[in-house]
Parts: sequence; structure tokens; C-alpha cells
Amino acid sequence: MDCFTSKVSVLLLLLLSAVVLPKGNCRTHSCNENDQSALLIFKHHVVDPLDYLSSWSDEKHCCAWKGVQCDNVTGRVTTLDLNNQYLQGEINLSLLQIQFLTYLNLSCNSFTALSLTNSNYQSLVKPSNAYANFSSLKYLDLSFNEDLQLDNLQWLSHLSSLQCLNLSAIYLESQTNWLQTMAMLPSLLELRLSMCRLKSISPSVKFVNFTSLLTLDLSQNSFYSDLPYWLFNISSDISHIDLSSNGLRGQIPKTLLNLRKLKSLRLDDNGLTGPIPDWLGEHQHLQHLNLTENLFNGSFPSSLGNLSSLTQFGVSSDSLSGSLPNSIGQLFNLRSLYIGGSLSGVLSEKHFYKLFNLESLVLLSAFSFDLDPNWIPPFQLHEVDLRNTILGPTFPEWLYTQRTLETLDVSSSGISPTNADRFWSFLANVRSIRLSNNNISADLSNVTLNSAYIIMDQNNFTGGLPLISSNVLYLDLSYNFLSGTISNMLCSRLGRKMNTLYYLDISHNLLTGGIPDCGENCRGLTLLKINNNKLGGEIPPPMDLHKNNFSGNPLDISSFKSLAYLNLAENNFSGVVPTKIPKSIQGLILRGNEFSGNIPAELCSLPSLRILDLSQNKLSGSIPSCICNVPFNL
Ligand SMILES: *[C@@H]1O[C@H](CO)[C@@H](O)[C@H](O)[C@H]1NC(C)=O
Ligand SMILES: *[C@@H]1O[C@H](CO)[C@@H](O)[C@H](O)[C@H]1NC(C)=O
Ligand SMILES: *[C@@H]1O[C@H](CO)[C@@H](O)[C@H](O)[C@H]1NC(C)=O
Ligand SMILES: *[C@@H]1O[C@H](CO)[C@@H](O)[C@H](O)[C@H]1NC(C)=O
Ligand SMILES: *[C@@H]1O[C@H](CO)[C@@H](O)[C@H](O)[C@H]1NC(C)=O
Ligand SMILES: *[C@@H]1O[C@H](CO)[C@@H](O)[C@H](O)[C@H]1NC(C)=O
Ligand SMILES: *[C@@H]1O[C@H](CO)[C@@H](O)[C@H](O)[C@H]1NC(C)=O
Ligand SMILES: *[C@@H]1O[C@H](CO)[C@@H](O)[C@H](O)[C@H]1NC(C)=O
Ligand SMILES: *[C@@H]1O[C@H](CO)[C@@H](O)[C@H](O)[C@H]1NC(C)=O
Ligand SMILES: *[C@@H]1O[C@H](CO)[C@@H](O)[C@H](O)[C@H]1NC(C)=O
Ligand SMILES: *[C@@H]1O[C@H](CO)[C@@H](O)[C@H](O)[C@H]1NC(C)=O
Ligand SMILES: *[C@@H]1O[C@H](CO)[C@@H](O)[C@H](O)[C@H]1NC(C)=O
Repeated sequence: MDCFTSKVSVLLLLLLSAVVLPKGNCRTHSCNENDQSALLIFKHHVVDPLDYLSSWSDEKHCCAWKGVQCDNVTGRVTTLDLNNQYLQGEINLSLLQIQFLTYLNLSCNSFTALSLTNSNYQSLVKPSNAYANFSSLKYLDLSFNEDLQLDNLQWLSHLSSLQCLNLSAIYLESQTNWLQTMAMLPSLLELRLSMCRLKSISPSVKFVNFTSLLTLDLSQNSFYSDLPYWLFNISSDISHIDLSSNGLRGQIPKTLLNLRKLKSLRLDDNGLTGPIPDWLGEHQHLQHLNLTENLFNGSFPSSLGNLSSLTQFGVSSDSLSGSLPNSIGQLFNLRSLYIGGSLSGVLSEKHFYKLFNLESLVLLSAFSFDLDPNWIPPFQLHEVDLRNTILGPTFPEWLYTQRTLETLDVSSSGISPTNADRFWSFLANVRSIRLSNNNISADLSNVTLNSAYIIMDQNNFTGGLPLISSNVLYLDLSYNFLSGTISNMLCSRLGRKMNTLYYLDISHNLLTGGIPDCGENCRGLTLLKINNNKLGGEIPPPMDLHKNNFSGNPLDISSFKSLAYLNLAENNFSGVVPTKIPKSIQGLILRGNEFSGNIPAELCSLPSLRILDLSQNKLSGSIPSCICNVPFNL
């Protein structure tokens, strides 16, 4: 049972008990005095820029305050949910004096302190404190208050009913004893301490009393140690463990098999070594196993084909050898398969035989394929990533059978499709395509691109720039052999819709002519890379690109050999002021950009320069003494 379902069942219970009681008895007429005063003390310490807590006043029943919910029968406060309200300031633990509070969610705010001096801690926990009943709180979520640092966790150990504790993305850097504190919570079902900057996972502790724990998320901390003994000696029926991105070392111990109910194990992005154990195939309940980004060596055990419950499975390591066993093809529940690193070998239909449910296929190793050209795969994929495999030279027939594809990456896979029309019309229906670094030779003059994200750099594309539909947002055609002018692609509207392109990289081609001003049609363009072309032409038009969102770093205009006038005012260009400026320049207006560094002395050697405007930038240093004949504006 996770936090959500258990919370729902509590509310349901309350509902049911409300129904059997006669009307009128359901509510006390004023808010419980102690609940109200604890809430007001809490409010007093909160900085509330959006005035979210404006309803919190004596005039209203506290059960009607924003974020507060009461038991319908007793009228006592049970829930306080103030997540994601831009709250700042201090969390005053007066809240823990609300006797029947079961749910407290302050996640995703900007609190900076949870004040607990020794003296107020003592008063909070001393038995004579009539309101200090810590036994009700079941859900405590303080996660994602990223400026909050907790130096004292001792108060937590009194929350004996706590089932869900989430302190993710809070600083717990100074906590060396966190594990012992958490282990004192006998009812804990879910514990999330991700991104807490924890340093110690107590690897040599043999036993921790997590009697009921089901979910443990310790991802993205800084343990840099062996996997802890205690983890595989948890007496609970733990089902989810996430230890990803922690710098963990050593081998996976066989005691992992003790955790018979484990469904999800994430050990990705660590430094685990040794073999991927054969016996892992005995872990029949595993649904999600992520072993990517580790240092495992040896071969890939074929026993993993026995993990018939697996839905998500990932392995990568640069020390593995051999191929992928075809037992993988037996994993009929698999939805996502991710294999990377130093495996190689030939994959055949057997490797995919029963993968009826596969949606995401990511193979990043140097696999080659021996598939019948008429093979119809058992799956319909949403994502295919075959970067760096040996796929080519023909674009595989089976990919054309995938009708629901959203993402396709076949970069560096040696493909050069034979039937261009079929290829481009297939890709037009895929939202994100990446074809970088292949040998695709095609004339793009008559091609219309339609995908939102298109990366086709480092191929052998020739002819004019392709046309783009209004769906295209991001286009990289750099390092090809495209020629002709830019205007047709940028300025023509296909249909009535305006072009929504925001990123265009056509650098390192053979393009000629100037940069057209297509007015409204290019308003969205924020990054245009055009360097290393033959742009400029014989007598380029005066270039006026001011008040756009053009940006670039560095800006290169050296190819505009006879440029006379360049106005780039009020764009987002950054880096140093260009030094390679055509000698022909007469007016150079770079006002209102992000240029930084010194004003280059090269500007002195421009014989025709008459207007220079460098104002409103981030320039520093002194003004070169030579610039004195220019009516400049710095
Ligand atoms: C109980 O109170 C909650 C709000 O606190 C409300 O949403 C729910 O409708 C009430 N149920 C009954 C039966 O009055
Ligand atoms: C707290 O609120 C957040 C929304 O910001 C939600 O995602 C989270 O599940 C809530 N926590 C609990 C324990 O219900
Ligand atoms: C809450 O704030 C009050 C002052 O408003 C202070 O006396 C008390 O010690 C604080 N409680 C905690 C638990 O920090
Ligand atoms: C604390 O709460 C529990 C259950 O909610 C109750 O049984 C107990 O009497 C309370 N103790 C005090 C001192 O209020
Ligand atoms: C905090 O963890 C709990 C328990 O796993 C979970 O239900 C909740 O959604 C998490 N909160 C956020 C903001 O993710
Ligand atoms: C573990 O916790 C349970 C429940 O709180 C308790 O009964 C038991 O004595 C504890 N065991 C150890 C070894 O601390
Ligand atoms: C597991 O915990 C018990 C104590 O409950 C201890 O005796 C045993 O050595 C631990 N086993 C491992 C493998 O750490
Ligand atoms: C794996 O690496 C370990 C050293 O970390 C070495 O002892 C072992 O022989 C290697 N195994 C294989 C199969 O290469
Ligand atoms: C798969 O499991 C069966 C027992 O369930 C076992 O006999 C077989 O050897 C395992 N297969 C592999 C490849 O390990
Ligand atoms: C495994 O984790 C990595 C991040 O470390 C993620 O990119 C990948 O998608 C995950 N794969 C699976 C199958 O869960
Ligand atoms: C593009 O289409 C035009 C008109 O249909 C045709 O004349 C031209 O040969 C085509 N160019 C290429 C490279 O296919
Ligand atoms: C690139 O295309 C041109 C023209 O189609 C062809 O002559 C050349 O061999 C191709 N280069 C490569 C590396 O495929």
C-alpha cells in the first residue's frame, strides 16, 4: 500500500463513519482551541508572498482554512496540505501539537528553517506537555524545500505512527545517525531520502529494525561505499529499493535473494563490480531492474531470461563481454529494454521472439542484426534508440512496420536508405528523429520535414535546404553539403500556419546568399547558427536583424565579405565582440546584447567604419585609444 491509497482509505473510513451518524452531530461549532492556536503559531513564522494563508484568521472556523481538513465527526484538524505554495520562512513544529493530525504535506515550498533549539525540543517531548501526542501523524512530506537544512532529526523518532516519510531534496548533510533514527519508526512503510547529500549508509551495520518498510529511496546521495549488509537483512517484505547514483562499490551479494518480495531494484549509475550474478534469474518477482552505468564484468547471464515478471530492464557497463543471450526474447512482460556498454554480437529474431509488450527499445552496444527482411516484430514501439549499433547500410525493413513511433535515434549506425521517398514519408510521422553521423546521401531540395525535433548533422545531404512544416521546432542540418539560399526554407509558409522553429543550425554547409528578413514568419527563432557557409554573396543586402531573439556564441560574420551595415541590436548574442569583421563594414550596431570582455583593438583597422554602437552590453576594460574618429556609442 502506498501513501496515496492508504490516505484514500483513511478518508473513506471517515466518510463512512460520518454517514452512520445523525445529521447535526457531525461538527463542533468552533475550531478546537489547541488546533487553532498551533496553526496560528505556525502561520506566524511563515513568509507567504502570495498570501495563500489569508483565510487563516480567527473569524473563520479553522476547518475552512485553505489547506486544512478536519474530521467531519470530531471537528478536529487531521490534514494540513500546503504543498507547492511558494511558502518561505520557518516551519514551527507547533504543528506536531495538533493531536489528531495524520497528514502533513509541506513539499515543494521554499522553507529555509525548521527551528528546534534544545529547549523547545525538550518542551515538545516532555510527558507533561498535554498536547504533545506524537502518535497520530502518518504522512510527513517535507520534500523539495531545497534550502532547508535539518541538523536535528531526533524529534522524528517520536512519530510512532509514521508510515510515509519524505525528506527528499532537503539538506541532511550533517546527519551521520539518520539510519538509527529512521529505524526507530516502527510503522514506517515508505522512506524517501533522495538527494539529501547523505554521506553514510553504514555499510558494516548488520541489522536495522525496519520491520514494515516497503519502499526505500536513497537515490542521488554520496555514499561512496560498499552495498550495506543491513539492506539484505531487512525483515520486512520490502518491494522497492532505489540506490541509484550513489557511487556504491563492490559486488551484488547473494543475500539479495532474501528479499523475496522485491519488485523494483535500481542500482544504476554506481560503481558496482564483479559479474552480473547468475542467481539473479531466481528473483521471480522483479518487475523493474536497472543495472545501467556500472562496472560489471564477465558475460550477460542467460538466466535473466527467467525473470518473467520484468517490465523494465536495463544493463550497461563498459567491461561486459560477449553477446546478449536470446533468452531475453522470453521476457513477454517487458515494456522497456535498455542495453548499453561493451556487449557485441549478432541479434536475431529469437532475441525479440516474445516481446509482445515492448514499447521502448534502447540498444547502444555494437550489435549487428541478422533479421529476415520480411520479419514482422511482435511489438509496436514508441521509442527506438539504436545509436552506435551496426544497422546499415540499408534502413531496416522492420522499422517501417512500427506505426506508433515517437522517437527514433539511428545515429552512427551506418545507414544509407535506398528508397528516399519511403524513408522521408515514414520519418514525417515520428516526432523526434536523430540521424547524425551516417552516410546518408540524399538531395533534400524536394523533401518536406515534419518532425518536431530533427537532428541530421554529419551526413552527406546535398541540394537545397528542405522545406519545413509548422510542426518543426528544432532542426540541426550542420556539417552537410547543402547549397542554395536560406530564404525558401525560412520564409515559405506551408499552409497558413506560421513557422514555429526556435533552433536552427545550418552551419558548415555550402549555403549562399544573405539572411532573409521573413518578418513575422521567423519571430520564434532564438538560435540561428550559420557560420562556415558561403553566405554573404556578391553584394549582400544591408542586414537588419535587430529586435529578434537571435543568439550565438561566438558570433561569426567573417564570411559576409562585402557587408556594409549590420544591425544586431537587442538580440541575445553573447561571447566576445567579433574580431573578424569584413573590411567593408560601415555601420556596426551591437547594442543591447550580452557581449562581454574587452573592446577588441581590431575595430581600429576597419577603414570604412563610421557608426559603432556597443552600448548596453557587459563589456569591460578600457576603450582602445584608436577608436576616436568614430562617432561611437559605448
Ligand atoms: C467531510 O469533510 C470533507 C472536507 O474536510 C468534505 O470534502 C467531505 O465532503 C465531508 N464529508 C461529509 C460526509 O460531510
Ligand atoms: C505532497 O504533495 C505533492 C504535490 O506537491 C504530492 O506529489 C505528494 O504526493 C504529496 N505527498 C504525500 C505524502 O501525499
Ligand atoms: C514555535 O514558535 C514559538 C514562538 O512563536 C516558540 O516559542 C516555540 O518554541 C516554537 N516551537 C517550536 C517547536 O519550534
Ligand atoms: C495519544 O493518542 C493516542 C491515539 O491517538 C491516544 O490513545 C492517547 O490517549 C493519546 N495520549 C494523550 C496523552 O493524549
Ligand atoms: C514523498 O514520498 C511519498 C512516499 O513515497 C510519496 O507518496 C510522495 O509522492 C513523495 N512526495 C513528492 C513530492 O514526490
Ligand atoms: C524492532 O521493532 C519492533 C517493533 O517496534 C520491536 O517490537 C522489536 O523489539 C524491535 N527489535 C529490535 C531488535 O530492536
Ligand atoms: C542479519 O541480522 C541478524 C540479526 O537479526 C544477524 O545476526 C545476522 O548476522 C545478519 N546477517 C547478515 C548477513 O548481515
Ligand atoms: C572481473 O574483475 C575482477 C576484478 O575486479 C577480476 O578478478 C575478474 O577476473 C574479472 N572477471 C572477468 C570474467 O573478467
Ligand atoms: C530458468 O529457471 C529454471 C527453473 O525455473 C531453470 O531450470 C533454468 O536453468 C533457468 N534457466 C536459466 C537459463 O538459467
Ligand atoms: C535506468 O536508469 C537510467 C538512469 O540512470 C535511465 O536513463 C534508464 O532509462 C533506466 N532504464 C530502465 C530500463 O529503467
Ligand atoms: C524537385 O522537384 C522539381 C519539380 O517537381 C523537379 O523538377 C526536380 O527535378 C526535383 N529535384 C530533385 C532533386 O528531385
Ligand atoms: C556524397 O554524395 C555525393 C553525391 O551524391 C557522392 O558523390 C559521394 O560519394 C558521397 N560521399 C559519401 C562519403 O558517401
